[in-house]
Amino acid sequence: MNAVMLVLIPLILSLLSFAPHYSGSASTGVDTMFAGQSLTGNETLVSRNGKFELGFFTPGNFQNYYIGLWFKQVAIVQKKKTIVWVANRDKPINATYFSSSEFKLLGNGHLVLLVSTKSNSSSTIPVWSTDSMTSKTTIDSSIKAVLGNDGNLVIMSSSNGNIMWQSFDHPTNAFLPGAKFGYNNLTKKDQKITSWRNIGDPSEGFYSIELEPDKSVISFKWNQSREFYNSGAWNGRFFSNFPEMRIGVVTSYDFTSYENRSFFTFSAPNEAAPIYVFIDLSGQLKAPIWQPKTQDWTIIWVKPMQPCKVYGICGAFSVCSDNNVGPSICQCLPGFEKYNPKDWDLLDYSGGCIRKTSLQCGDKDNFKKLPNMDVSRIIPSADALVVDDAKKCESACLKNCSCDAYAYYKNSSGNSQSFMCLLWYSNLLNIEQLGGDKGNDLFIRLAASEVLVGSKMKASTIWTIVGVYDEKKLEAIQEWVMIFSE
Ligand SMILES: *[C@@H]1O[C@H](CO)[C@@H](O)[C@H](O)[C@H]1NC(C)=O
Ligand SMILES: *[C@@H]1O[C@H](CO)[C@@H](O)[C@H](O)[C@H]1NC(C)=O
Ligand SMILES: *[C@@H]1O[C@H](CO)[C@@H](O)[C@H](O)[C@H]1NC(C)=O
Ligand SMILES: *[C@@H]1O[C@H](CO)[C@@H](O)[C@H](O)[C@H]1NC(C)=O
Ligand SMILES: *[C@@H]1O[C@H](CO)[C@@H](O)[C@H](O)[C@H]1NC(C)=O
Ligand SMILES: *[C@@H]1O[C@H](CO)[C@@H](O)[C@H](O)[C@H]1NC(C)=O
Ligand SMILES: *[C@@H]1O[C@H](CO)[C@@H](O)[C@H](O)[C@H]1NC(C)=O
Ligand SMILES: *[C@@H]1O[C@H](CO)[C@@H](O)[C@H](O)[C@H]1NC(C)=O
Repeated sequence: MNAVMLVLIPLILSLLSFAPHYSGSASTGVDTMFAGQSLTGNETLVSRNGKFELGFFTPGNFQNYYIGLWFKQVAIVQKKKTIVWVANRDKPINATYFSSSEFKLLGNGHLVLLVSTKSNSSSTIPVWSTDSMTSKTTIDSSIKAVLGNDGNLVIMSSSNGNIMWQSFDHPTNAFLPGAKFGYNNLTKKDQKITSWRNIGDPSEGFYSIELEPDKSVISFKWNQSREFYNSGAWNGRFFSNFPEMRIGVVTSYDFTSYENRSFFTFSAPNEAAPIYVFIDLSGQLKAPIWQPKTQDWTIIWVKPMQPCKVYGICGAFSVCSDNNVGPSICQCLPGFEKYNPKDWDLLDYSGGCIRKTSLQCGDKDNFKKLPNMDVSRIIPSADALVVDDAKKCESACLKNCSCDAYAYYKNSSGNSQSFMCLLWYSNLLNIEQLGGDKGNDLFIRLAASEVLVGSKMKASTIWTIVGVYDEKKLEAIQEWVMIFSE
């Protein structure tokens, strides 16, 4: 705990004393676009305080271009953009057409992303457009788009000050201090945020969070539907599963709910300190804050804390272990290989793993025992059988060619200390390896040849728990937050 204090107290001090010293030339970007104006190439809008910049970006070495928002100073220091908003997340511009694309404010109040195909410059295609609420057909020459000091891109009419559209209402995977994250009970729309697909692709991934309209609960969902975690209800001061929120050393929070609208907001202690909250590819909600001292982001808050508790994080036939050191928390089961290794390189494990050798069915197949598995979270595909010995459980699985795995274990959660036989018939999701001697044996069905191969690979990393994963570090941070609560 002392070590934690040593690390984090300087962080706090640096946050409280953070003073902006932006050196970027403000003349390269203005904060306002007027009707008829557009951004092309490396032209950007820069908020008046120099904190945010908006323009084209291309994630990684990939061949697609997007309009995005990033922290200007951080991008200069890191030579890498931390993207907190993307306009056309699902509609990339192919690099081939980048030089002929423009992000343009039309006189009717719509911001549009246009490309001209090179072969025919007279054919211009709108790739993306804002859905400005007013469907104005008349041209209003006083229309302007302003990138605010808070990172909100606002389209408004300067003649009457009416806001026609704002990016805060259309978040992608992140929200910024001052943005309202919630549910509008009049339009029945919410500010759901959804993870990127992978590190090079901002299109919608598997994880999202949204406010449950009637419950004042932030719900974490997989594939837009299955809830795997939630914040607990707002109790007036904090969400019940996020007790560390009540301290508010780094940020302060508020949740407002009335008949027409419910929303959550947070604010930073110092307007200049870059901070945001986003849903990561890992399905976790994280709050990074920029540390001027180390010139890097520090994650000060994560939910859920253990990545293996995120639904389907490793895909099918893949094991999650919070104790894995190395590049990934996920590893294919023995006898399986990555379905799409390229996706894994981009931190998208959702494709999971597939068999190296297909099953032959009948007695040609065999089972490999995997110890210390948490079988309780693998989604069951059938009711458990009550059988009186392990052999009967095995033969029940062997009998049916679509049975992929079984577990025979003592169910000690009830008062009957009965033995259960669990059988799985479809893609196994949420397999987690536990440390120590916790968990149960899981028997995975393999073609006989793979069982032999598998037994020779006993020392492969997956079954060896080495070191301690970041979880400890995260616990330490939350502990630190608790210290400040006293
Ligand atoms: C923008 O691009 C132009 C032409 O490609 C180049 O001359 C200029 O230096 C670039 N400006 C910045 C700020 O990178
Ligand atoms: C981009 O366009 C080129 C030429 O039309 C095409 O060969 C390439 O596959 C496209 N790339 C993507 C990512 O769509
Ligand atoms: C270019 O596109 C326009 C509109 O789509 C079309 O009328 C015209 O014939 C095209 N020109 C060429 C050279 O393809
Ligand atoms: C996600 O949901 C969609 C629509 O409900 C469904 O078609 C798709 O199969 C689901 N994806 C997975 C991986 O289950
Ligand atoms: C949302 O509006 C409906 C009427 O359209 C109302 O019945 C409901 O109570 C409202 N929800 C909340 C949370 O106030
Ligand atoms: C909610 O919206 C309705 C319809 O627009 C309006 O009449 C009412 O005054 C609003 N209620 C509040 C508390 O703003
Ligand atoms: C195998 O199990 C599946 C899933 O329970 C079932 O639909 C199928 O009928 C079974 N096949 C046989 C041959 O028992
Ligand atoms: C374990 O026993 C409890 C109580 O008898 C029961 O509710 C639960 O479903 C059992 N678990 C499994 C995996 O069968």
